Amino acid sequence: MRNLDDLLAEGVSGRRVLVRADLNVPLDKQTGEITDDGRIRAVLPTLSALVQAGAKVVVCSHLGRPKGAPDPQFSLRPVAGRLGELLGAPVHFAEDTVGDSARSTVAELADGQVALLENLRFNKGETSKDDAERGAFADQLAALGDVYVDDAFGAVHRKHASVHDVPARLPHVAGRLVLREVEVLSRLTGDPERPYVVVLGGSKVSDKLAVIEALLPTVDRLLIGGGMCFTFLKAQGHEVGTSLLEAEMVDTCRNLMERAPGKIMLPVDVVAADAFAPDAAHDTVPADGIPSHRLGLDIGPETVAGFAAALSQAKTIFWNGPMGVFEMAAFANGTRGVAEAITKADAFSVVGGGDSAAAVRALGLDESSFGHISTGGGASLEYLEGKTLPGIAALEN
Ligand code: 3PG
Ligand code: MG
Repeated sequence: MRNLDDLLAEGVSGRRVLVRADLNVPLDKQTGEITDDGRIRAVLPTLSALVQAGAKVVVCSHLGRPKGAPDPQFSLRPVAGRLGELLGAPVHFAEDTVGDSARSTVAELADGQVALLENLRFNKGETSKDDAERGAFADQLAALGDVYVDDAFGAVHRKHASVHDVPARLPHVAGRLVLREVEVLSRLTGDPERPYVVVLGGSKVSDKLAVIEALLPTVDRLLIGGGMCFTFLKAQGHEVGTSLLEAEMVDTCRNLMERAPGKIMLPVDVVAADAFAPDAAHDTVPADGIPSHRLGLDIGPETVAGFAAALSQAKTIFWNGPMGVFEMAAFANGTRGVAEAITKADAFSVVGGGDSAAAVRALGLDESSFGHISTGGGASLEYLEGKTLPGIAALEN
């Protein structure tokens, strides 16, 4: 896989470099403001290097999941503003992705200047399952660059035009972020130093099933919290009240636990609340004593202590998914406790994913005390599953 240094060695001065970034940042629902700019900052090393080398830098990204047509709530305009602040130079914003505005914005770029195109997913071709429709959009996008850099690690698992089809049309390299992400994650799939402990959270077992299947033979311990732990607790024979439950997954969870006796650690206590609300009445209860009218919104302190003890032994740690509803202060202690235990462990630690990475920053934890914070949630999980990632495969060709 060729990377940015190969391209810089070739020289990019005056060339149009089309950079696929993952600028899919969380926005405040009321104000539309960017609540976590980690993904913008993560792509700065690649963009700054290109600016310094005198390239005409054309950045493209998706934001959210608009349905193939312009939708103002998913505009990248606020991201252009923030990117400009971080780069210390204005970013020219194109009102469309491949139309008149994009073409003229790119044509007017001076060497060392940066443009951001409007949301890729305002165009049906970006995510189309039809090769011809995707290809036609990729043709238009590729016409805006002379060379292509993929630095959108969070999207490499998507077979989308900007990720999978543009690199087939232009000389292509991996950006600094993609390169670093792949280097780090390959340490986990290769021969990780043991004990190797994985912490999984988040709401759904069904989303994590493939990665659990793939990791179970490899890991020494698998700690499970978050909304998905209730389906496992149910499989253990406990009643879970009105907690999140995927009834159709109970047998699967039981089977996973039987296959790897002792490897999977579940909560022994949970914080159970009257309602899904920041001010709901709540108590810590044993995992086998969740009242029928209550729902679990966090793991309890005894569980945090048990998870922390397992993590303190680890030499390699991967964490994906919050342990509870950390956005509400009353249910943030589990995620905070686990995150702190990870920072204290004498281990190589990787935080996988948009939500967990945002949790680290939202809770005010020191990012530098983790070995690596991945910008890709789905992408890092699919990498660990051993799947072929369309964006990486396209760069290798
Ligand atoms: C993410 O947030 O996981 C990436 O930006 C990919 O977004 P997607 O899941 O909407 O494809
Ligand atoms: Mg995602």
